[in-house]
This record gives sequence, structure tokens and C-alpha cells, in this order.
Amino acid sequence: MGATIRFLLDGQVQEVRGANPTTTLLEHLRGPMRRTGTKEGCAEGDCGSCTVLVGEAAKTEEGGDAVSWRAVNSCIQFLPMLHGKALLTVESLAKGGELHAVQQAMVDKHGSQCGFCTPGIVMSLYGRAIAAKGAGAPVGEVLAGNLCRCTGYGPIIEVAKGVEAEAAPAVDLPAVRDETMLSLSYEDEVHGVTRTWLSPRTVDELAQAYLAHPDATIVAGATDVGLWVTKLRKPLPTLIGISEVAELKALEETAEGLRIGAGVRYVDAIEAVAKLYPDLGQMMRRLGSTQVRNSGTIGGNIANGSPIGDMPPALIAAGATLILRRGNERREMALEAFFLDYGKQDRRPGEFVEAVIAPKLDAGRIFKVFKLSKRFDQDISAVCGAFSLAVEGGVVTDARIAFGGMAGTPKRAKACEAALVGQSWTEATIEAAMAALDTDYAPMSDMRASAAYRSLAARNMLRKVFLERQDVESRVMPESAVG
Ligand SMILES: Cc1cc2nc3c(=O)[nH]c(=O)nc-3n(C[C@H](O)[C@H](O)[C@H](O)COP(=O)(O)OP(=O)(O)OC[C@H]3O[C@@H](n4cnc5c(N)ncnc54)[C@H](O)[C@@H]3O)c2cc1C
Ligand code: FES
Ligand code: FES
Repeated sequence: MGATIRFLLDGQVQEVRGANPTTTLLEHLRGPMRRTGTKEGCAEGDCGSCTVLVGEAAKTEEGGDAVSWRAVNSCIQFLPMLHGKALLTVESLAKGGELHAVQQAMVDKHGSQCGFCTPGIVMSLYGRAIAAKGAGAPVGEVLAGNLCRCTGYGPIIEVAKGVEAEAAPAVDLPAVRDETMLSLSYEDEVHGVTRTWLSPRTVDELAQAYLAHPDATIVAGATDVGLWVTKLRKPLPTLIGISEVAELKALEETAEGLRIGAGVRYVDAIEAVAKLYPDLGQMMRRLGSTQVRNSGTIGGNIANGSPIGDMPPALIAAGATLILRRGNERREMALEAFFLDYGKQDRRPGEFVEAVIAPKLDAGRIFKVFKLSKRFDQDISAVCGAFSLAVEGGVVTDARIAFGGMAGTPKRAKACEAALVGQSWTEATIEAAMAALDTDYAPMSDMRASAAYRSLAARNMLRKVFLERQDVESRVMPESAVG
């Protein structure tokens, strides 16, 4: 009962005993720790006023010990997820009564008015300054997850432009981790209800734990699950945190493509995914915000099964395969087969997502992904369309097309594909394939878009693929003109 969650705050060991596993980091900071600089705006990962930096043990290129820092939304991180990690809050920055340079610049350049967003913005900009590659990250990308109602952003962007890279604070995380990181698994009784947090370290341990607790909720980055607690007030009596399962964090480039462990976060996958599918890499930079991508996983996006998740349509179009694991058994299936119906995936009790295999594309294949949302950044898609097409000698020889936001699941456009394959690559073929989308989908109207808008947008995405290809081809100089 009542295991101890240990982490470093400003380099000092902190211990928390007997915490309800669904206590958020923000609740703990503003409550028992009285670190009230970190604000609660939305409690759902949207506004960034709760941004803190979490440091994890990492390796330098030479193999030495290091700490890698990333900005996260503390409102949707559960406290046990901090076990064995390091934490910096806005209170960590000012030293000896002197504001940190980022804070001072916010004062000097009028980056703060009501001030509610300011601690989060300061932490995002400080995170950019101390991240290994972060100082070069585009300002828009870094701030997309920090909302400010007052300033109009102009002064904040001026501050951001002047922030210089600096060394991260030296915290002896590896030493603390070694002492600490025996598994954190515990159960606790809160108001007569037993709450359990299980923290397997290997995929075999996870398989056993999930078989023993098939009703448990798996927690990867908690960017979906966190909201079930803060917004839906769902009781989640048993949680299995998978962020320390070594094998699930592995990202392997193979001759066939990419094997993405279910626990790989967006931030760690973007570069490799962009190498394989440049268009998807671009789209991933718009998925959520820096804070969301620093926590959220591709495995969580798939397992969640949302019809508007952004990764499934692209990975289905690419021909990805899913690896599921239950006890010692593994199943492999085409990703599209996983999504059975709204809220229903092909997953048996005790079975979890282990990895997704993303294949290399054949040379010359057209691969396009479009995310259509009301805001450019940090917004859920109204429609997400993905297209993988082979065109040889002016004829479409293969087509894999999938959409999110058009049905109760991410779904392939089989009728549209059939209208393309074997046909010449012409406007008439595209028109026919666009019309066929009405056979594939009967989208719904909701706050993001009407059914008619979704249908039109999906059709026009296909037209855009065609027109962009025509544009590329018209710019390629015919050989006869080369001289
Ligand atoms: C502000 C904000 C913006 C967002 N923007 C986008 C967006 O633009 N596009 C988009 O697609 N999504 C978006 N999301 C949703 C979310 O970030 C993604 O779905 C994310 O990929 C979920 O990953 P996670 O690791 O946080 O999953 P979690 O929240 O930890 O888990 C999600 C679900 O998957 C299950 N699960 C996780 N891993 C496994 C596994 N290995 N095996 C079995 N089950 C598992 C969990 O039990 C849960 O049901 C946004 C979320 C927020 C808060
Ligand atoms: S409080 Fe808004 S992102 Fe956390
Ligand atoms: S200064 Fe008021 S919300 Fe940004």
C-alpha cells in the first residue's frame, strides 16, 4: 500500500506517499506543493497555462548520462507518471531575486497583460532555450499550445525571437533514477475505493499485468485519458502506465520501413516518419501542440480508436500493419481491420497494441495527407484525408485512400479506389472517383463541420492531389528540351 512517488524538483528529491494515481501533476503543484505559479486554464491540454518542464534520463551522443527536457501540460499528466523524472516549474527560474532572462524580456517587451498565460509561455520559451535542438524550433510551433487572450501575441513573439539557447540546469537524475526506478506499482484506498497504478518495465511484464487486470486503463501519454478524468470525471480504479516499458519506446528503421513501438511519442517519431512520408511529417507538426506531441504517442492515437484521430488515415493509406499482444500471443493485422465500428476496435480483453509497422513507399508513388481543421495548429480535424497512389504510364495502377472524420471509424475509400485503379490519370477519372466518395461515406454534421462540407472537402482533397501532381509534372522539363 502507498508506494512512494519520487522525483526531482529543482534538483531536490521530492517524495509523495499514497497519492491517488489519477491526481494530476497540476493538482499536486497547486495543492500540497503550493507552487501556484502554474495556472489552470482549461484542464484539457488546450491553453498551455499549466506548462511545466519534465526531464528524463537520456544519453548523449557519446553515451554519457544526460537529461532531456520537454514541455508538458501538467493538467493532463498523472502524478505517478513523474516517478523517476525531474521537474521545473515557473518558480524554478528566478534566482536570488533576479528574474530569468525570458521573464525579464516578457516585462521589458510587454509580453504580459492580465498575466494568466504568462507562466506557461515563459516555460515554453525556456524549454525551447534549454532543449538540445530546441533553440532552433520555429517560434510558432513552440507557442502553438499557449493561448493568450490579451496581447495579440506580437510582443510575445518579439520576446521569443530574442531568447537565446542556454545550458539546461544540471540535475543528477541518473543517480536518483538508479536508486528509485525499481518499479512503481501500488494500490491505495481513497474514500473506500481501491485505486491501483501498475508500472511495468518490460513488455512481458505489461503483458502479464494486463492479462491479470483486463479491465485496467492503459495510460501512455495521457493526452486522451487525462481528459477522461479532468472533464468526464470518470473513475479509473486501475491504471497501467506504459511510459517506462523499454521495448514500446523503440523506433527501428528497417529495410522494409519503420517499426514504431506503441509507446513512441510524436516528438520522437516525427523525424523518422517524415523521412518515410514527408507529407505526414508535415502534418504531424500540426497535430496538437508541442506539449501534446511531447507526451502523446502514436500507439495511443491508434488504440483510442477515435474517428478523428489523425494518424490512422495516413498509416492506413501507407499500408501499415498493427501488432497486438495478449500474454505471449501476438496478432498482426492490417491497420484498417483494427477499427470495427464507432468506439469498437478489434482488441480482446488483456490485449494491447505493441507496435505499428509503417512500410516504405515504392519510388515514384504519390503520398499526400491533408488535415482540415478550423485552426491551423492545435485543433482536431474536421476531415483528414490520406492518399497513396501509383501512376504508371498515365494509368493508375494502385490506390489506397483513407479518411478520418467521414465515418464512425477511420476508413478506407474502397469505391473511390475502385474508380481510380486501371483508369487513365485524367480529370474525368478524378471526377468519377470524387463522385464515388459518396458511396464510401455518409458523414455526420457536428460542431466541426456539416456533412455537406465534409463531403465536399473530401472530394476536393482528391482533386488537389490531382492538380498538385499535374503542376509538378508540368514543371518537369521534357527531355527533348534539355538540349
Ligand atoms: C489539446 C489536445 C490536442 C490534440 N490534438 C490532436 C490532433 O490534432 N490530432 C489527433 O489525432 N489527436 C489529437 N489529440 C488527442 C491525443 O493527443 C492523441 O490521440 C494521442 O495520440 C493519444 O496518445 P496518448 O499516448 O496520450 O494516449 P493515452 O491518452 O495515454 O491513451 C489513449 C487511449 O489509448 C489506450 N492506449 C494507449 N496506449 C495503448 C496501447 N499500447 N495498447 C492499448 N491501448 C492503449 C488508452 O487506454 C486510451 O484508451 C489532442 C489531445 C489534446 C489534449
Ligand atoms: S490548464 Fe489549459 S493546458 Fe493545462
Ligand atoms: S496576458 Fe492575459 S491571457 Fe495572456
